[in-house]
Amino acid sequence: MSDIQAIQTRLVGDIADAADLDAIEALRVSALGKAGTITALLKTLGGMTPDERQAKGPEIHALRETVTAALAARKAALDAAALDIKLAAEAIDMSLPADAAPRGSVHPVSQVMDELAEIFADMGFAVATGPEIEDDWRNFTALNIPETHPARAMHDTFYFPDQMRGGADAGPGEGGRMLLRTHTSPVQIRTMMSQEPPIRIIAPGRVYRSDSDATHTPMFHQVEGLVIDRGIHMGHLKWTLETFLKAYFERDDIVLRLRPSYFPFTEPSAEVDVGYKQEKGRRIVGGNGDDDGHAWMELLGSGMVNRRVIANCGLDPDEWQGFAFGVGVDRLAMLKYGMDDLRAFFDGDLRWLSHYGFGALSVPTLSGGISA
Ligand code: PHE
Repeated sequence: MSDIQAIQTRLVGDIADAADLDAIEALRVSALGKAGTITALLKTLGGMTPDERQAKGPEIHALRETVTAALAARKAALDAAALDIKLAAEAIDMSLPADAAPRGSVHPVSQVMDELAEIFADMGFAVATGPEIEDDWRNFTALNIPETHPARAMHDTFYFPDQMRGGADAGPGEGGRMLLRTHTSPVQIRTMMSQEPPIRIIAPGRVYRSDSDATHTPMFHQVEGLVIDRGIHMGHLKWTLETFLKAYFERDDIVLRLRPSYFPFTEPSAEVDVGYKQEKGRRIVGGNGDDDGHAWMELLGSGMVNRRVIANCGLDPDEWQGFAFGVGVDRLAMLKYGMDDLRAFFDGDLRWLSHYGFGALSVPTLSGGISA
């Protein structure tokens, strides 16, 4: 057996015996590294006569190829074995009974948001979203609430420190003070600035105000509605709200009262009350608030989008009109599902959730019953 064959036999044997990736690497260095056996053999080729080289050359090159291939094959085998061990260790026992898993359910706020999306999708509304960290311009100024406007004080805004002023996303014309949005109305601005009318959207999401008691939490949820088209008037607004509330409360005897109000971004503005009666300590929505035993409850803010807001978004208010409304999702959930303390919504108590929560698979649909 020639030297070369002897080297090959030994190396191939050692490689097959290599127990781990470190051993493979050590063998590679000893054979093919700078001071390796095969490297040394390759170097001898330079000092050979042409005849010698013709005889030995192919043999040495074949040795290098064989050893390289053996190293790669052993490495692949070791990798596969390591993966098998890892997979075995991370295996999930699919035979575990579902009962042993923690029980989760859909939070009423998520459920109500899904219900609203379903109801409004049926009326041709798309769902729009915007960031919770908003700039001053979109949250206030563009909505016709300038710096000195008293409505700013009413919003109990959480501002970010002044150093965070001027984010890249800040809207036009302001220093870009950043804040936690106090309502979902900035999504109106974002939508009108990025989309051609006609527009029909709802914008659900979290909003923040520095306020906390049994009926106020610093974070709560709103759904904004916005329609922009030609020839839109208050009648469209009233019909939309009535249709929405009948579908949401799943009853036909919903009676609304539009009360003149004021929002800087709508003109005229109306607060919308819904008739209800008290039954076993619970508010049941339905009926006329002026009838015996009934009362009115304020439910949402609304109005015709102010011409200035439409112009602030670069649209011509002579051509485009619209209406907007904003409603508290948490409040809608409390009313429909009979919860009395808003704070429980955010306690993360599983007992509360298993009492009021919804099955993950019972998705609200108009045909199957919104809350079924
Ligand atoms: N953004 C108002 C609020 O948070 C609600 C509203 C929205 C009123 C749209 C009118 C139109 O109080």
